[in-house]
Amino acid sequence: MSLTFRPLSHALGAEIQGVDLGKPLSNSEFDQIHSKFLESGILLFRNQKITREQHIAFSRRFGELDRHDSLPRDRHPDYPELLLVTNIPEKDGKESASKYTGQQWHSDMSFTLEPSLGSLLRGITIPPVGGDTMFTNMYMAYDTLSDGMKKMIEPLHGVHTGRRKVTDRDTEREREQTRINPPIAQPLVRVHPETGRKALYIGEKVSSLVGMTEEESKPIIDYLVRHATRPQFVYRHQWRQDDILLWDNRCTMHIALGDYAEGEIRHLERTTVKGTPSGYYLQ
Ligand code: SIN
Repeated sequence: MSLTFRPLSHALGAEIQGVDLGKPLSNSEFDQIHSKFLESGILLFRNQKITREQHIAFSRRFGELDRHDSLPRDRHPDYPELLLVTNIPEKDGKESASKYTGQQWHSDMSFTLEPSLGSLLRGITIPPVGGDTMFTNMYMAYDTLSDGMKKMIEPLHGVHTGRRKVTDRDTEREREQTRINPPIAQPLVRVHPETGRKALYIGEKVSSLVGMTEEESKPIIDYLVRHATRPQFVYRHQWRQDDILLWDNRCTMHIALGDYAEGEIRHLERTTVKGTPSGYYLQ
């Protein structure tokens, strides 16, 4: 199969053409995909009419898959390797547990001791307008900080929680998240284990910095998130049905914008590839 690549934006991302993920890939094809993944941070595969099993099988080529024990309400009942990102109501008519998933800048599973290497999200039902996802390049975010700021943040650790921003803090789901995912400290600067490059590791799931009060931490966190999400570092993805989007959680961050009409269905399914251990529980 001859593969071609098209850049998605100046900052990050490439579309791969000429691949059918429903068919087995040779090692040489996978190697090309893998090296483009490391170079671009995001890969887009359009028109992939694949099954859940094929989605899982392709994802496994990148590493062991998370079974989403830290997000039990959101996983597919029959496929624990699939995380539902859906606003389709539950069978009993209740609002979907994952309706607001991802609606804050984050890197997947940063609130666990095995933050994700990468995620593969499959667009199944996409609203006619909107439902976009934005991504940002965290190498660029780090590289463009001043030397003084780099030196200041190098030894700092952010406290990551599994809570979401847009929902009521007191729902059963949020209480469960606090119980099963106690806060975890992660370095603000991490070295990508495959490229050796430094990337900023921050986001809107970071509530404070270790050893500082929330009041002291907030201006630093807010500045770093604002800096990391400057438009020139960002790619905005407009979903189409049968898109598969793969991103590297070690050097990108993303946000689901929720920019679609109430009443429109948005249903996507995600596999999450486990990363290397990072972070520690706070005493
Ligand atoms: C996610 O954060 O994995 C979901 C992103 C999206 O729904 O666009």
